Amino acid sequence: MTDKLKIAVIGAGTMGRGIVQLFAQAGHRVHCFDSFEGAAGKAVEFVVGMIGRGVEKGRLDADEFERIRGQIHAAETMQDLADCNVLIEAIVEDLEAKRALFRSLEAVVSPEAILASNTSSLVVAEIAAACAHPQRVAGLHFFNPVPLMKVAEVIAAVRTAPAVVTALRDLVAGAGHRAVVAADQPGFLVNHAGRGLYTEGLRLLEEQSASVDQIDLVLREAAGFRMGPFELLDLTGLDVSSKVMSSIYEQFQQEPRFRPSSLVPPRVAAGLFGRKTGQGWYAYEGDARQVPP
Ligand code: NAI
Repeated sequence: MTDKLKIAVIGAGTMGRGIVQLFAQAGHRVHCFDSFEGAAGKAVEFVVGMIGRGVEKGRLDADEFERIRGQIHAAETMQDLADCNVLIEAIVEDLEAKRALFRSLEAVVSPEAILASNTSSLVVAEIAAACAHPQRVAGLHFFNPVPLMKVAEVIAAVRTAPAVVTALRDLVAGAGHRAVVAADQPGFLVNHAGRGLYTEGLRLLEEQSASVDQIDLVLREAAGFRMGPFELLDLTGLDVSSKVMSSIYEQFQQEPRFRPSSLVPPRVAAGLFGRKTGQGWYAYEGDARQVPP
């Protein structure tokens, strides 16, 4: 694939913002689009602010900052994405929403454009099946926060063209991340293996074995995880994680070891999503976190 591309990021939330930042810093032109009015513009401001921190810390000079800033655009309509080479969606984790989006994108982009999904847990082949050219569709699964988590899963669905997998691997590598190619299996690699952390953490809580912060502490310090399950759920957002848990459980034919915890639905209903709502398993004020009573 060529050096510098026009990349579109659709969905300007937690993940979309990080993906915009990553590829703009890697020298690509990035167009950000969101169906919620004003969200793309806010995301661009946020990303520019994050990149600006590099200037304050002396990691980036002012000219370079201006050059990167000039590469980031908020798209007003989907039509603005027409000449993008790689389009990466990071919208809500909902199969029908992603299928509808890809169908709309196919109507505006060139036949050669690559369509990638940042889905955490949906079957990429089912997203691709909505497209006239499923061979151009793959998964491209980043982790939060995208600029710091230097690995991404490239998911090859049954009909994904090998050249598309190679192009996405190169794109990821060119941005300084490592790519792991995974099969289109439930949860791919991370969200399959990661069930052990989340599901068992939630089971321990259900069984009243210990408190949220004690479970996090022991898994972080003794088991060597960078974050405990509840810290990670708060970072990801329980709204997103609950969908991932249900999706993986269903894809594994309701295998009991993947059964989502009954502790989750009431907390989702109450809006206790985590950092993004100021309260999840912990309470947040700015960067400060309080242990629940
Ligand atoms: P989010 O809720 O922060 O952002 C989603 C954005 O998509 C919102 O700005 C919303 O307005 C927009 N949106 C929704 N439907 C749209 C549509 N049809 N067209 C255009 N924009 C639309 O969600 P988040 O956390 O960024 O997750 C996005 C995707 O990334 C999901 O598929 C999720 O499973 C996946 N993911 C999330 C991770 C996380 O840690 N939060 C990690 C890895 C993947």
